[in-house]
Amino acid sequence: MYPISTFKQKALLVCSILSSAGSATDPLHTRLDNGLALTPPLGWNSYNHYSCSPNESIIHSNAQALVDLGLQARGYHFVTVDCGWTLPNRTESGLLTWNPARFPNGFPALGQFIHSLGLGFGVYSDAGIQMCMTGEPAQGGSLFHEQQDAETFASWGADLLKYDDCFSEAATGYPDTDYSPVVSPAPRYKNMSSAILSTNRPIVFQICDWGVDFPSAWAPQLGNSWRVTNDIIPAWRTIPRILNQVVPQTSFAGPGQWLDLDMLEVGNDVFTTPEEQTHFSLWAIIKSPLVVGAALKDSLTSIKTASLDILMNQDVIGYNQDSLGVAASFRRRWTAEGYEVWAGPLSGGRTVVAVVNLNNVARQLTVDLPDVGLQHAGSLKDIWNGMTASNITTSYTAQVGAHGTILLELGNVTAAGEYMNPQISGNRAIFTQIYGLTSSLNYTAKIALPTTSDPFSLSVGTSTYTVSAGITALDIPISLNATQNNTLTVVSPVSPTSLWVSAPPVTFYPSTAFTAIGDAIHITCHTNLCIPVGSKIGDLSPTGSASLSITSTSSGAKFVDVYFANNDIALATSWEYGTNTRNLTIAVNDVVTRIEVPLSGKSSELFSPGKGWEDTGIFGVLVDGWKAGSNAVVVGNHGGAGGYQTYAADFVGMGVYL
Ligand SMILES: *[C@@H]1O[C@H](CO)[C@@H](O)[C@H](O)[C@H]1NC(C)=O
Ligand SMILES: *[C@@H]1O[C@H](CO)[C@@H](O)[C@H](O)[C@H]1NC(C)=O
Ligand SMILES: *[C@@H]1O[C@H](CO)[C@@H](O)[C@H](O)[C@H]1NC(C)=O
Ligand SMILES: *[C@@H]1O[C@H](CO)[C@@H](O)[C@H](O)[C@H]1NC(C)=O
Ligand SMILES: *[C@@H]1O[C@H](CO)[C@@H](O)[C@H](O)[C@H]1NC(C)=O
Repeated sequence: MYPISTFKQKALLVCSILSSAGSATDPLHTRLDNGLALTPPLGWNSYNHYSCSPNESIIHSNAQALVDLGLQARGYHFVTVDCGWTLPNRTESGLLTWNPARFPNGFPALGQFIHSLGLGFGVYSDAGIQMCMTGEPAQGGSLFHEQQDAETFASWGADLLKYDDCFSEAATGYPDTDYSPVVSPAPRYKNMSSAILSTNRPIVFQICDWGVDFPSAWAPQLGNSWRVTNDIIPAWRTIPRILNQVVPQTSFAGPGQWLDLDMLEVGNDVFTTPEEQTHFSLWAIIKSPLVVGAALKDSLTSIKTASLDILMNQDVIGYNQDSLGVAASFRRRWTAEGYEVWAGPLSGGRTVVAVVNLNNVARQLTVDLPDVGLQHAGSLKDIWNGMTASNITTSYTAQVGAHGTILLELGNVTAAGEYMNPQISGNRAIFTQIYGLTSSLNYTAKIALPTTSDPFSLSVGTSTYTVSAGITALDIPISLNATQNNTLTVVSPVSPTSLWVSAPPVTFYPSTAFTAIGDAIHITCHTNLCIPVGSKIGDLSPTGSASLSITSTSSGAKFVDVYFANNDIALATSWEYGTNTRNLTIAVNDVVTRIEVPLSGKSSELFSPGKGWEDTGIFGVLVDGWKAGSNAVVVGNHGGAGGYQTYAADFVGMGVYL
């Protein structure tokens, strides 16, 4: 538990925003080093379109289309036959075998065909006693047959294995799916991982346990990718849901080991074009494997041009395959306004930014570059609007469709807080488009000056400073409003060359300083959890809140880092309308700001001490209503249950940029 005063910190404008993403300091566990998937695997898989009914002609025509449509040339390589390829029973010698009615020429010949096109052959099995095939005759899985099956797959020339998790929980009689197994899936995946390695054939291993037991914590040791959520479903709501689950996990991705957001629905006539662009953009920049799940071509149908154009976009594929291999992370969400920003670094000093329009209306949206750590971009590519621009300072505004995404590549960038080239007019130097994260009197401006041999006086607003000879930088306090458009005028006989603006100090108020009201309760957390407080306030609801009086020297909208805990994975409800977000409201002098927070859990929802509900996430938000003097701050779930979750996320504390 930290007293308030020892957790004061001075931060650059963007520190708090960057830290709301999965922390870059997560220790990376030992990783499988099979030399494969140094960039995310790209390919095609039969499941999203053909479900568990693949057959030879389907695989042949789609593999051929991958080549003919030019997708192979863009990097799509693996052709994976998902569930439905086997005979229910093993052969007399105990081997898995293909269904000859569906694959008359057999799997070895299928592998040869795929290889003859220069593509990789992906096979599918399951870490349970049966494969995932409800309603079909039961098909044997690989549990307890790992070595034998790995050798079979290798002998057929397999280059990739997708490994599912149905019928795997012994303690409950091997049900089809068990989202709360009594033991971790990890040892079953370890057995197949070892079996594959022992074949000495390079086989990409894709773990698919739907995120049960937080595989980001163990799967990097065993496989090249792991599913982080339950299946994608053919409905728009699946996209924000998957993204909310990915938020705390992006730092676990890296070369050879990727978060699998599930196969693509692009081209399946599920989404509008802007929705397909959002889906493809976010999957690409978070560095998910990009696995086409549409019918590219078969005897009945072929993919639409608009969808193919999305899958073929060279820039977006390039972000996915970028040599840095850093997954983009969640940066900021405007809950009431319905949009959010993700961003990540690319090679060559570039940054990729996605502004996701969560609302079902087309509109203009603005991204402030400081929200992604930048102040200026020499070059900008707006991918889906098909535009380029140069010399972008502080903000960029563009049109975006309903549920669409503004996807930007920024080059030749400067860090947030740095302003150059003031407009000079006589003895006035005017810096414009200065970004204010928060409304405050407590910013620091560092004004860079050329060397002079004589002292001179310089003024900003009503304050005048004497600059001694030889001084090349002056640090002064300034006030800014929470907008993108502040102006700073420096009156001086010597023109400043540049300006650095640092955000006000953030004052941290732990949940322990708040009074729990009504049904809300203080909860002590396990050792080293609910960081940095060690405890949290739970049961925040329309009838339970937490209050504190906070003193400010100024009024206006203040930026607040809300430290919260939410691990409502809600796996089973993901097939319908279940949500994995939680509401939280912050009322300042009765002005209410609602936020909808993503998951924060970075540990097992089943077996870790806090079950992921004591892993802190940070959500940055501008909160209005502050006055100079004392402020009544109430954290709760104002209006909860009226269409939102009744219970809020748990509250660990808040950092306020006063
Ligand atoms: C598959 O195995 C089951 C159980 O061993 C047996 O009852 C069934 O007859 C077999 N089916 C075929 C087609 O051989
Ligand atoms: C494969 O599936 C396609 C499309 O569903 C169907 O037209 C074709 O007859 C099937 N072929 C075999 C061998 O089952
Ligand atoms: C893994 O394989 C070993 C050796 O075959 C076996 O004893 C063990 O039960 C397997 N573990 C699981 C979880 O299947
Ligand atoms: C980068 O931007 C600076 C100004 O911000 C400009 O002087 C320089 O020419 C640009 N470099 C490139 C490679 O575009
Ligand atoms: C960039 O834009 C600023 C105004 O925002 C202008 O002062 C400056 O001259 C421009 N630089 C270039 C290289 O166009």
